[in-house]
Amino acid sequence: MTADVNVREEAKGADRQQPPDRVVRFDLPDWVPGWARDAPKISVTPPGPRSREIVKMDKEYVSHAYDRVFTFTIERAAGAAVADVDGNVYIDWTSGIAVMNAGWGHPGVVEAIKSQSEKLIHSFANDIYFDKEAELAKILSDISFSGKLRGTFFGNSGAEAVGAAAKLASYSTKKFEFLSFYGAYHGRVGNALNFTSKLKYRFGYGPLNNTIFAPYAYCYRCPFKMEYPSCDLYCMHFMEEQVMNLGGGTGSLAAVVVEPVQGEGGYIVPPDTFMPFLRKFCDKNGALLIADEVQSGLGRTGRIWASEWTNTMPDILVAGKAVGGGIPLGAIIARPEIMKKWRPGAHSSTFGGNAIQMAAGIAHINAILTERLPERAIGAGEYIMKRLREMQERWDIIGDVRGRGLMIGVEFVKDRKTKEPLDLTQMQVKCFKKGLLTLTAGTYGNVMRIAPPLIISTEFIDRGLEIFESVVKEIQTELRNPPAAAAPAAPGQASGDLQQPATS
Ligand SMILES: Cc1ncc(COP(=O)(O)O)c(C=O)c1O
Repeated sequence: MTADVNVREEAKGADRQQPPDRVVRFDLPDWVPGWARDAPKISVTPPGPRSREIVKMDKEYVSHAYDRVFTFTIERAAGAAVADVDGNVYIDWTSGIAVMNAGWGHPGVVEAIKSQSEKLIHSFANDIYFDKEAELAKILSDISFSGKLRGTFFGNSGAEAVGAAAKLASYSTKKFEFLSFYGAYHGRVGNALNFTSKLKYRFGYGPLNNTIFAPYAYCYRCPFKMEYPSCDLYCMHFMEEQVMNLGGGTGSLAAVVVEPVQGEGGYIVPPDTFMPFLRKFCDKNGALLIADEVQSGLGRTGRIWASEWTNTMPDILVAGKAVGGGIPLGAIIARPEIMKKWRPGAHSSTFGGNAIQMAAGIAHINAILTERLPERAIGAGEYIMKRLREMQERWDIIGDVRGRGLMIGVEFVKDRKTKEPLDLTQMQVKCFKKGLLTLTAGTYGNVMRIAPPLIISTEFIDRGLEIFESVVKEIQTELRNPPAAAAPAAPGQASGDLQQPATS
């Protein structure tokens, strides 16, 4: 049996209820090269000499606005492994921020980019029809609520797509206000920044207007100190009754913009009643529901779109990150009657429908579908969460383990009762030095994201978890037994190897 068949057979079973102790094992696909199979391999303490040279040049010439998480220099990546220019190989738990869902260097995507670039790179699709643009738009429609969403606009990034969604919502409803959520991240430009809640990202850019914010259903840190389900989703009633009336709105609500699983906010899975509540709320208020699936989409949560988990069809669905298979691409897919309201010329982008974007996007989505990666994400995700919950019993700095598919968050606290957040800068440095790449999230930077490529193998998961637990153990031991005279390190200056927590 080839690894591929093996994967498909196992993935088929992954969606079914498994007896609790049955472990579904996954292999790396056959195409993953040998060097990317035996990660981690740390031959030079990172950052090595070549990395340091490049970092030095970068710091002189590249804008410091990019607050790089790791100061090593990436050279290549394959499957679920990333290599630096000094020959170190890391296990990847990030997918390059939820982008490389079918694995780094998937041969279908590589071949599509190669052959497309020999024929045509810039499709000039603003003014001329292009076959692959129509093809990708059809594929996106087919996988979006069985074709009920139909009508796609292509742009170049997640934030640009969020902006397009906002324009379409305003244009079609003739209303101008939006409701977004505490902890929301929708990007950094235009309306996307308006909808992004965190002070860190908004700082220095006022006035940012047209958006009112309501609490997300973040049950682990419920602002009302209630518990689900006995709260009866109080946060949503609060939104409906208080925020909408007293929160500074103007009664011109065009749309609710929501991440069905909050990403940057802390990999928060809301209760299953949350999205359906919003659907009804929008219908009652003549507003549109915009689901931002930039991070949660394309199989990451075990469904093509996370909104499918609660069968909540948005009016406009926003895709980014994984939709281009590593090539910059953003898209909105809307209900046809809404998309039709845009007159020709109502919105545009020079590179929208670009040939390389389209070819890569088609190949990546094909890989996700034919290799049944959403089902695989469920199986792998259940396995990881089971292991993490066992870890939670051993280490009390693990406050919460949550997730769907391979969108898993582990929230760390200094104290389980007070839930005082534990900064994860040190943990990230330690994992990185041992050969495991991780990203953090959350309002307090205290949530570890586990978002590996969906083709990750059980062996890589086990190796990663082993590193992770050894670091959790070190951090908890240091926290509970601080060295007598040690001065606390400032976040981001822990070792000089890591600067800031992850940011998108
Ligand atoms: C949910 C969500 N929306 C939008 C964006 C913005 O995407 P981009 O960085 O491609 O502009 C991100 C990026 O992390 C995201 O997670």
